[in-house]
Amino acid sequence: MSTQVTVIVLAAGAGTRMKSTRAKVLHELGGRSMLAHALAATAGVDPERTVAVIGHDREQVGGAIAAIDTGVVQAVQTEQRGTGHAVAVALDALREPLTGTVLITYADVPLLTADTLAALVHDHRTAARAVTILSSVVAQPAGYGRIVRDGAGSVVAIREHADADDAERAITEINSGILAVDAEFLSRAVSGLTPTNAQGELYLTDIVAHAVSEALPVGAHMLEDMWQTEGVNDRAQLARMGAELNRRITAHWMAEGVTIVDPATTWIDSAVTLARDVTVLPGTQLLGATTVDQGATIGPDTTLRNIEVGAGATVVRTHGSDTVIGPGASVGPFAYLRPGGEIGESAKVGTFVEIKNSTLGTGAKIPHLSYVGDADIGEGANIGAGTIFANYDGRTKHRSRIGRHARTGSDNTFVAPVDIGDGAFTGAGSTIREDVPAGALAVTAGQQRTMSGWVQRKHPGSASAEAAQEAHDEQPDPHDGDVPGE
Ligand code: UD1
Ligand code: CA
Repeated sequence: MSTQVTVIVLAAGAGTRMKSTRAKVLHELGGRSMLAHALAATAGVDPERTVAVIGHDREQVGGAIAAIDTGVVQAVQTEQRGTGHAVAVALDALREPLTGTVLITYADVPLLTADTLAALVHDHRTAARAVTILSSVVAQPAGYGRIVRDGAGSVVAIREHADADDAERAITEINSGILAVDAEFLSRAVSGLTPTNAQGELYLTDIVAHAVSEALPVGAHMLEDMWQTEGVNDRAQLARMGAELNRRITAHWMAEGVTIVDPATTWIDSAVTLARDVTVLPGTQLLGATTVDQGATIGPDTTLRNIEVGAGATVVRTHGSDTVIGPGASVGPFAYLRPGGEIGESAKVGTFVEIKNSTLGTGAKIPHLSYVGDADIGEGANIGAGTIFANYDGRTKHRSRIGRHARTGSDNTFVAPVDIGDGAFTGAGSTIREDVPAGALAVTAGQQRTMSGWVQRKHPGSASAEAAQEAHDEQPDPHDGDVPGE
C-alpha cells in the first residue's frame, strides 16, 4: 500500500461576510493568515504534493500561497460549483494518477493542528478505509453536513443540511469537511458526481454513499476539540477564534515554564518563542518573530514585533520592532525602538528615549528624553539627558559615532555626521558640529551674560518685577549698580 499523501486545500470560496477588499483566507490571527495556518497544519502529514484550489480573489490568494511555499500547486476553479467540483479541479491540475491517500482540508479553519491531520491520516491508513471523515459532535449542527449511520452504527452517508429531512437534521455529529480518501477511489468517485441535490452543486460528500454502495470501508475519526474544525466567515468569528488561539498559545508557553501574569491581556503570535523563566506582565503583545531568552521580563503594556530579547533583560512599557536587545539590558519605561537597533549587553535605553538604526555597546546608557538615530554608541558611554542626534539634513541621513566611555552633557545636539572620540566629554547644552578627539572636552555654549535689574526696567509693575523687587529688598544684589558690557 502506498504511503504517499497528497493534500488538497480548498480556498476558492468568496468570504462575502468579511466585507473586505482582502481575501477571507488572508485575514490574520496569531500573526499569520488563515491560509498560512492551514498550510502549516498540512506539514503534519508530510505531503508529497500540495494543491490549493483558488477562485475568488485568486490573484491575492495565489500570491500569498507563492510567498509561503512555491512548491504548492495552484489550481484555479473559475466557478464555485461545489466541493466535489473543487476537488476535481485539483485532481486535473495534478494530471498523473495518484496513489496512497488524499487529504482534503480547508484554508479557513485556522485552529486545525498538524497533530490532528496526522492522526486522521494514521487512522485512515490503519483501518484501510476508502474514506475517513473528520467529524465532531456539536450543539448547533445547522448548516453542516450530518454523519448518517445505520442501525449498527456504521457510517453510510453524509447528508447536507439543505437535503436533510427532520430526523437527519436532529443528528449532531457533523462533517468538518476534512476528509482522508483513498486516491484511486477519489478519482473514480469524483468523476461520477452529479448536481442532483437541493443546491445544484457537486457535493464531495456524496463519495461516502458511493463507497458504501461499492461495499468499501468508510468511517469517521471523531474530534472532541470542536475549535479545530470551526471555520471563520465573519469578523466576529475571526476575533473569537483569535482569542481562542491566543488562549492556546499562552497556555502552551505557561506549560513550558513562562510566567504570564494575565493571559487575557497578553497576546502572543504563533511564531514567537519564549525561554523558561521569562515573565510577561499584563497588557503585553509579543508579535511576529519575537524571541525572548531565559529570565527576561517583558511589560507591563509593551508591544514588541520581531524583537530578540536577551537573557535577563527587562523591557518596560515599550513599543518596538526589529531590534536586538542584549542580555541584561534595560529598556523603558516609555521607550520607542524603531527598526535596526542593537542594544548591547547590560546597556540602558531609558525613559522617553527613541532609538532608530543605532547600536549601543556593552553597558552604554541613554537614560532620559533622547532621540538617537543612525548612531553607534560605544561601550560604557553615557549620553546626557535630552540629547538629539540630528541625523537628517533634509536630504540624506548621516551616521554619528560616540566613542567608548565617552560622557556627553545634557541637552546636546549632535549634528551628523560627527565623531566623538573614546573617553571624550561634551558640556551641557552643546551643539556638536565638529569631531571631538579622544579625551577632549568640547563645549559650544557661549559664556552666560547676566543683566541685573533687567526685569524691573523692562517689565515694571509686572508680577515678576514685584517678586524681584521683594527678593532684592530682602537680600540686596551684590552686582547692583554693575552695567553689563561696560
Ligand atoms: C461543506 C460540506 C459539509 C460540511 C461543511 C463544513 C460539502 C458538500 N459540504 O459545506 O458537509 O459540514 O463543509 O464546513 O462538501 N469551496 C471551494 N469551491 C467550491 C465550494 C467550496 O473551494 O466550489 C471551499 C470553500 O472555500 C470552503 C470549503 O470549500 O473553504 C467549504 O465550502 P463551504 O461552502 O463553506 O461548505 P459547504 O459546501 O457549505
Ligand atoms: Ca459552510
